[in-house]
Formats: sequence, C-alpha cells, structure tokens
Amino acid sequence: MDQANNLRNLINQVEKGESVIDLSSRVITVTSGKGGVGKTNFSLNLAIQFSKLNKKVIIIDADFGLANIEVLFGIIPRYSLADVLKGKRDIEEVLTDGPMGIRFISGGSGLRELSNITERQMNYFINNFSYLDAISDIIIIDTGAGISKSVINFIKASGETIIVTTPEPTSVTDAYALIKTIKEESVKMPDFKIVVNRVDDDEEGLEIFNKINRAATRFLGVSLENLGYIPYDKYLVKAVKNQQPASLCFPNCEFTKSIELVCKRLMNIKVSDKQRESGVRGFVKRLANMFSN
Ligand SMILES: Nc1ncnc2c1ncn2[C@@H]1O[C@H](COP(=O)(O)OP(=O)(O)OP(=O)(O)O)[C@@H](O)[C@H]1O
Ligand SMILES: [Mg+2]
Repeated sequence: MDQANNLRNLINQVEKGESVIDLSSRVITVTSGKGGVGKTNFSLNLAIQFSKLNKKVIIIDADFGLANIEVLFGIIPRYSLADVLKGKRDIEEVLTDGPMGIRFISGGSGLRELSNITERQMNYFINNFSYLDAISDIIIIDTGAGISKSVINFIKASGETIIVTTPEPTSVTDAYALIKTIKEESVKMPDFKIVVNRVDDDEEGLEIFNKINRAATRFLGVSLENLGYIPYDKYLVKAVKNQQPASLCFPNCEFTKSIELVCKRLMNIKVSDKQRESGVRGFVKRLANMFSN
C-alpha cells in the first residue's frame, strides 16, 4: 500500500472515531516573552534528545515569516502548512525529514490563515493535521516571541507550555507578562514550565526561576514548574554557525547535557489525560475555534 493510501485510510479511521493506534500525541508549545532567548535551539535539541529515547518527534515551526528550524537544520522544506490549508498538499507532503528520524513542518503563513477558510477547508485541515497523532509521540511547537494573538492561541490550545527565559531582566519581566496575559484570558489556566537559558551557573538559574515563580504565585495565583537551566555555551554558538544541531555535533558539551536533563524531567512528568485532551486533533480543533472567534 502506498503512502497516500495509508494516509487516506488513517484519516478515514480517525474521522470515524476508530482508534487504531494510541492516537494521543503530547503537544508541547515552546515560547518566550522576549525574542532571541534560545527557543528554536532548545526545541530542536530537545527533539533530538526525545528521539534518542526512541520517541517519534515532529517539530512545527510556527514562527511565521522567520524560518527558524529549517535554518538550524540546514534543510529547506518544499511545502508548508499553508499548502495543506489551501488543500493543495496533504500533510505527508509537508513533513520534511530532519536528522535522527525527526520530522518537521514549516508553518508558513498557514496557521494564521485559519480564520479565513471555509468549513470544508477546515475539515480537510483538521483531518490532515490529526494524522500527526498516528505517526508521532511528541509534537513540539516552536513559536515566535511575544504576546501576539497567535502565540496566545497556541499556548491556550496545547496541553503543555515551556517558557524559555534568560537571566536578563527584560526577558524575565516579559516572561512574567506573558503568563499574566494568559491568566487574564483563560478560564482554565494552562500548565507552565520554565527553562532558564544562558545562565552562568545553576545558582543563577534557580534564582531566576524563584523570582518568576514567586511573582506568579503571589500576584497571579499560578505556580510554575522548574524544568532546569542551560548554561551559556560557546559550542552552541559554533553549532549554530555550522547549521548543525549541537546535540549531534557536540554530544558532550554543557548545552547538550543540560537539554538531556530537561528531556529526562519531561519524560518523568506524568501527563494527565486532561493535558493530552485528545492529542493533536484536540489541539488543532481548539486552535481552529480560537482563530475563528
Ligand atoms: N545556551 C546558549 N549559549 C550560547 N548562546 C546561546 C545559547 N542559547 C542561545 N544562544 C544564542 O542565541 C541565539 C538565538 O537563539 P534562538 O534562535 O534559539 O532564539 P529564539 O528564541 O528562537 O529567537 P527568536 O525569538 O528570534 O525565534 C543563538 O543563535 C545563539 O547564538
Ligand atoms: Mg526562534
């Protein structure tokens, strides 16, 4: 049976609600208040660590306009999610192969156009997108920075959100501002995890986490989860220049080791059924609802 047939069959089964396989992927959104804090490098290397643990990972590059993931992988995808939205391609065709069996999807302008499509297009899109549940364990969404409508929608629709910050005061206050905005807009508060990147040492990382967590607990009534700290590492800078993921070209550098730890913590966190809420299908349905409101 060819791939297209395979996909069609799976989509039919998903549509009928027949659960052939474990259909719930873990959808993790990676975001930040301030830009340039290390989200894309974190997402990519986290994906590699998951894949080393035999997890099937798909990265969605949702940073519209800025093609982050593909630049770091040094691979140019042929199509983007916008092509699925327009009904020109199916989801298999927009999946690009990266290293270690990781696959990625370029968002293009796709997800922002969700609000302007017909019901038929929307169904095609949701059913195609849902196929990702069947072929992956974990979906990592690398968003742009800041409190834009689309970033807020991604956070609200996904089960888990990781906020990346650095110790810089502007990055810390912007991370807090992002949590505050989500809190004000949400009926049900999503679960937030914090990673402090570019630290001098663990002490500094803990201090920054405590600062954000104290403010969020005291003023917003939200407690955050500490996922760990990533040191400033010149090997990461080298890897970026070579367009190679640091986890592959420098598997023993400090950066890689700290991402490995974050990955292990994430693996040990029990994901509740509520967080999964029907995996990527649930995610894309919630997203579609938000964009159409
Ligand atoms: N731990 C680190 N050690 C050294 N340099 C780092 C580290 N993390 C990030 N950087 C530097 O910061 C740059 C920006 O990282 P990255 O592109 O991952 O940020 P981003 O948050 O995705 O940015 P944007 O908001 O523009 O999408 C990297 O190219 C690298 O030079
Ligand atoms: Mg980025």
